[in-house]
Amino acid sequence: MVKDLINKAIEARKFSYSPYSGFQVGAALLCKDGTVYTGCNVENAAYGPSNCAERTAIFKAVSEGKREFEKIAIVGGMEGESVAPTPCGVCRQVMSEFCDPSFEIIMAKNEEDYETATLGELLPRSFDL
Ligand code: THU
Repeated sequence: MVKDLINKAIEARKFSYSPYSGFQVGAALLCKDGTVYTGCNVENAAYGPSNCAERTAIFKAVSEGKREFEKIAIVGGMEGESVAPTPCGVCRQVMSEFCDPSFEIIMAKNEEDYETATLGELLPRSFDL
């Protein structure tokens, strides 16, 4: 299952629109009902309106009625290379809106080489109302 999710993130990365940074990211989000939503980063000439792959996937899912998530796989890197990206602070906060501290974040170079962390580890003491 983890490998499937990483492969879906690798496929999503192909749609990355990242002409400014050149850093291409793909994400695949597994919902608790078993459905998967993918996303890529979408950049903008004004930089600020850019959206990360993780938030693209989460917003796609939430906008279709999904709010319960189990894990997310993230892949990325400059053209032709692969690193294991850690989610930015904004994405961690967005995850914390919908996900438990046990939500699993899979940061992958490829389907064999990845590390995992929970949201609670990456964003301890997150802000909540
Ligand atoms: N980016 C993501 O999409 N996800 C991450 O986890 C790290 C960063 C994007 C934002 C921007 O388009 C590019 O990668 C460089 O920061």
